[in-house]
Amino acid sequence: MTDRSSTNGQTAGQLENWSREGFTGEATYVRRAHYAPDFIRAEGPLAPRRLTVGSLHVPDATDPQAFPVPVAAASSGLRVSVSHRGAPMPFVVRNVEADELHFVQRGELRFRTAVGIVDATAGDFVCIPRSIAYRIEAVTGDLQTVVVEAPGALRFDTPARSGMVNFNRDVSYARFEPTDPGGETTLILRSGDEFTRFVYPHDPLAATERVGGSNPVWKLNLAKVSPITYEGGGGPPAHFLGIANNEVLFYPLSARRGGRPVVHVNADYDEMIYYFAGPGAWGAVSEPGTLTWVPKGVTHHGPPEDVPGGYLAWMLETRTTLRFTPQGLAVAELMETGMYGPHRRPEAVPATR
Ligand SMILES: [Fe+2]
Repeated sequence: MTDRSSTNGQTAGQLENWSREGFTGEATYVRRAHYAPDFIRAEGPLAPRRLTVGSLHVPDATDPQAFPVPVAAASSGLRVSVSHRGAPMPFVVRNVEADELHFVQRGELRFRTAVGIVDATAGDFVCIPRSIAYRIEAVTGDLQTVVVEAPGALRFDTPARSGMVNFNRDVSYARFEPTDPGGETTLILRSGDEFTRFVYPHDPLAATERVGGSNPVWKLNLAKVSPITYEGGGGPPAHFLGIANNEVLFYPLSARRGGRPVVHVNADYDEMIYYFAGPGAWGAVSEPGTLTWVPKGVTHHGPPEDVPGGYLAWMLETRTTLRFTPQGLAVAELMETGMYGPHRRPEAVPATR
């Protein structure tokens, strides 16, 4: 439940920051005596919401033919989906519209791709770029993954070549393994919700040798992405991954030193934050697999990040406004934007507000 006392203690003289271009553009600051994030009620598509990925009914838990269920989408083609795949894929898929970033909440899985194999476990990001064919060919444990489809080429974009990510040590690439041509195989070309099925006499993933070029399929664990910290009062987060024109940006939002963020109005980006694991709570968010969403233009504060017990989280910023899908809305709840807990009912709001 929301700890309202944590915000009530900061209702006087709160700084509010309006910012352009995420955290890198023009900004202005105003001090308000009232606590600006508090709202009595909100209705409509851009109300802030939260959900837990474990609460979704996802058909791929029992149907190997099923695809992940989208919980949020934007007109740019960006989508956020959830998978609980319970068995290997009986087909090969090639997403021709998006780079796919898979994040493993729990369980283990093996991706066999057109350029090699990646084994992934909890906390791993796995990037499969557009038109790289793949098959999830092994799953163990009670698998839960979040899949972000990015409408552009994802590339690392860190403030320095080292520090935030140790690329040589912590980014691993698909390992090649020669395979026989195999037998008849279905390949699904995926374009959003459109599926075109090809049947080939051989497995399109089969190959005899990796000859050269770059290796586009990689893996990186969230615990190996260091959030930027600042001495003194703290400062904004920094992204580590994104697409051209900063249309989509990924940040580590794990525990870090520094003061609590200022109250914020993000002019250009929606902020979707995914809480992976504790042991510490991030404000009112403590259940692994909780996804919070604050659309651009919604006044928010956000919990303190300087949590001694530590926690791991990441943020997706998207310039194009997201919408929760009907499946997402079915399990989402309205969220207050102080500590990111469930929004209290209007009758619980003090009469003075
Ligand atoms: Fe913000």
